[in-house]
Amino acid sequence: MRLRRASFLAFSAVFCIREAASTQTSRQVAPSPPQQPIPFSHKMHAGNLQLQCKGCHPNPDPGEMMRIAPPSTCMACHSAIKTDSPAVQKLAAFAKEDREIRWARVYEIPAYVYFSHRAHSESGNTCAECHGQVAEREQLYREGDITMGGCMNCHREKKASLDCSYCHEPR
Ligand code: HEC
Ligand code: HEC
Ligand code: HEC
Ligand code: HEC
Ligand code: HEC
Repeated sequence: MRLRRASFLAFSAVFCIREAASTQTSRQVAPSPPQQPIPFSHKMHAGNLQLQCKGCHPNPDPGEMMRIAPPSTCMACHSAIKTDSPAVQKLAAFAKEDREIRWARVYEIPAYVYFSHRAHSESGNTCAECHGQVAEREQLYREGDITMGGCMNCHREKKASLDCSYCHEPR
């Protein structure tokens, strides 16, 4: 009990700092897409070519995180497609040296929040409900609302729990 209270106080401290900092910046403005190491179009791959999300985004055990497929997956096509493109040549170099591409994060929540992709998929939530119309986007930006308010709105609508301890305490 004492431990729980201590960690809750830690939250509250974070809360005050964040609130103070956020008075200067507005959260309403749609954030612009981050600069990516290689320009990648979901509109081309998931839209025009209709590749499945899970082909590039596996959800390994325990299922909390999604992954982004390594360069070798891309090379199944790009060892032959668009080999004259500088972006594809950069991709090929990563694959050849077996190096990880450090894609800039688009969606991220703090480590003290509990969230599982698998649990959300299994309860029928779609990628688009949280990430928007990905297959229509040339570049991804944070268009889905993953603030606490965004989580709460959907939980209220779908009658999922709103208890603080649902998302915050180690369970
Ligand atoms: C199923 C085949 C396939 C896979 C898998 C694939 N691509 Fe592509 N990619 C294409 C096709 C087709 C195009 C469009 C080529 C064109 O414009 O003629 C393309 C275009 C591109 C381009 C634009 C090249 C340019 O300069 O116009 C980049 C960059 C790219 N892909 C990166 C990737 C990355 C990174 C991955 C892996 C995460 C990947 N692709 C996986 C088929 C694929
Ligand atoms: C051909 C491979 C490929 C396919 C198919 C694909 N993605 Fe991606 N995805 C990527 C790559 C590469 C990135 C990193 C670059 C970026 O953010 O655009 C990414 C990034 C993302 C991100 C942002 C990750 C972060 O940092 O927060 C989301 C969300 C996402 N994809 C959702 C989807 C959804 C939903 C679909 C299906 C409609 C899909 N993707 C299909 C390759 C793919
Ligand atoms: C209920 C909302 C929700 C749904 C549904 C959802 N995501 Fe996410 N996604 C998130 C949140 C929140 C994050 C940030 C997680 C973090 O920072 O740990 C995220 C992050 C990601 C990332 C970055 C890697 C990671 O796991 O942090 C990828 C890629 C991604 N999502 C793809 C997808 C795809 C593909 C689908 C559909 C199969 C999907 N997401 C469904 C909310 C969701
Ligand atoms: C699109 C709607 C939607 C959004 C957005 C959403 N959730 Fe959920 N969440 C659900 C539903 C539906 C369930 C399942 C409830 C049930 O089965 O009783 C759930 C269940 C959960 C669970 C319990 C399942 C588990 O993993 O053990 C947690 C924790 C949770 N959500 C956290 C979050 C967090 C954190 C966010 C924001 C980053 C979020 N959710 C955003 C719809 C949503
Ligand atoms: C459905 C999931 C969910 C529930 C339920 C939830 N939170 Fe949160 N909470 C979040 C997420 C996600 C963040 C991170 C938001 C961000 O950084 O954008 C967060 C952040 C916070 C923060 C840090 C300050 C901030 O705004 O970034 C505090 C404090 C907090 N929550 C307290 C609470 C309290 C108190 C309750 C119960 C009334 C609660 N939370 C219920 C998901 C949830």
